[in-house]
Amino acid sequence: MQTPLTHKLQIRYPILQAPMAGGPTTPELIAAVSNAGGLGNLGAGYLTPEQIDQAIREIKERTAHPFGVNLFVPEPFTESVDEIRQMNNSLNSYRARLGIAQDPEITKYAESFEEQIQAVLDGGVPVCSFTFGIPGASVIEALKQRGTVVIGTATTVEEAIRLEAAGMDAIVAQGSEAGGHRGAFLNRQDEPLIGTMALVPQMIDQVSLPVIAAGGIMDGRGLAASLALGASAVQMGTAFLACPESGAHPVYKQKVLTAHEEETSVTPVYSGKAARGIVTAFMKDMNQYAGEIPPYPIQNALTRDIRQAAAKANNPEYMSLWAGQGVRLATTRSAADIVRHTVDQAMSILNR
Ligand SMILES: Cc1cc2nc3c(=O)[nH]c(=O)nc-3n(C[C@H](O)[C@H](O)[C@H](O)COP(=O)(O)O)c2cc1C
Repeated sequence: MQTPLTHKLQIRYPILQAPMAGGPTTPELIAAVSNAGGLGNLGAGYLTPEQIDQAIREIKERTAHPFGVNLFVPEPFTESVDEIRQMNNSLNSYRARLGIAQDPEITKYAESFEEQIQAVLDGGVPVCSFTFGIPGASVIEALKQRGTVVIGTATTVEEAIRLEAAGMDAIVAQGSEAGGHRGAFLNRQDEPLIGTMALVPQMIDQVSLPVIAAGGIMDGRGLAASLALGASAVQMGTAFLACPESGAHPVYKQKVLTAHEEETSVTPVYSGKAARGIVTAFMKDMNQYAGEIPPYPIQNALTRDIRQAAAKANNPEYMSLWAGQGVRLATTRSAADIVRHTVDQAMSILNR
């Protein structure tokens, strides 16, 4: 179970619990995974610098083992007043259904990346990973100077080559099965959606960095297969969503535990950026506005009140239920049990 990456990260098993922004990755979950020999990761993309600072403290109180923090690399976007007004008009019908105010005032679309990075630098984290692009050279340099291992996310071989050239220490190969937002940054509009099985070995042949397989890996079978493909570790998100330490909403957990593999889809309607989740009424209905969805992070800010009101009302149909195609294999095992079971199962397969 030891690979070049487990040595670099100083972890026992090649299992990364995926960073999952929006609530699932609590300090309890991260610490449980790190204490069990994997690498817990905080999805900090939506957090304020103060929240990041607080979460890092809480993780450190619970584990002395390495853990990671993940951020969204900001991308340029254009704000069209007409487009936003039109989208708000469309969203008002959902707001009426949920009994919340029309045309809410949006004060900011996203947190400041620079301030988030500063919180990560000040917090002294062992690992920092990124998705949606490549951070500036000064960011990578500053993290490395503090001894932080830096990881990027790629959905194609070309993206992996760019991440390697930028100085990353390892790369997450995110296949199309993966739950949550797509990390694509070169083909955002017309993403080729390459599966994990095809992506991982092609990436390994073209870059010299350790590659972490992500997307559809739910247990030891997925870990053994990934190691056989040459991956140095796996990153598992959906597998941890319904565990007791996950901060996912109870209704969301229930949907994860009952959904089947054909019930997820990749959609831009919640956030303006393609992401895979369990199909909801909102997703199906919003398809009528295909082509009119404002880009990330605008749409994400515009739908926030709807998602929050739906969560409050325990109504999954207007919540974002990010999950991958392996969803049928999700369980309610504890985080430590998931790590243990994954390792045991992979070991027995590899020994055979
Ligand atoms: C609920 C959820 C939220 C996610 N949020 C993030 C995130 O904040 N940052 C990130 O790099 N990846 C995020 N991902 C993607 C994961 O890093 C990973 O690619 C994915 O979970 C792997 O596929 P799997 O869900 O089939 O295990 C998220 C995935 C899920 C399911």
